[in-house]
Amino acid sequence: MAEMRTGHLEDALFEAREIACTVNGKLYRAMAEPRRLLSDFIREDLDLKGTHVGCEHGVCGACTILFNGQPARSCLMFAVQADGAEIVTVEGLARSPQQLTRLQESFSQEHALQCGYCTPGMLISATALLSENPSPTDSEVRHAMAGQLCRCTGYEQIVRAVLAAADSDGKGGEGGNHA
Ligand code: FES
Ligand code: FES
Repeated sequence: MAEMRTGHLEDALFEAREIACTVNGKLYRAMAEPRRLLSDFIREDLDLKGTHVGCEHGVCGACTILFNGQPARSCLMFAVQADGAEIVTVEGLARSPQQLTRLQESFSQEHALQCGYCTPGMLISATALLSENPSPTDSEVRHAMAGQLCRCTGYEQIVRAVLAAADSDGKGGEGGNHA
């Protein structure tokens, strides 16, 4: 009897479930095991490799996505938690490679990336900031981006890029198409 109960528990732990979520405006239906990380689901099952994975325990911010409009660390979530959610990854920010957002243009112009590993998380985090606060101060940018780690730039160019994309006339920072 005890063996049967254990068996049922194992089945529940490993059995894949169907989930449906909208990613970058497109509806996906896919099977996900209960312990599948959302970051792995996005990268491997949906083949959206723009979301990077660094520490895999919530420290570096490389895996940051917009989850129902809020920045979230996808390595700290399970794929099944995304059932019914609206997600934006870095691939969903620009309309096309020729039509980057103002923020992405600013990152390029201000040399806010070197290896680029942190950049998807930086862009998502800054997009969330600018959509909530279109004209942040220098210290508000630093505060909002404090959870995103960069090993290359020293952060100054990143802060400059976010400030350059911010709107001094209060019309918004044109963060992304789905934000
Ligand atoms: Fe998710 Fe580092 S990979 S926070
Ligand atoms: Fe290399 Fe930020 S540009 S980690």
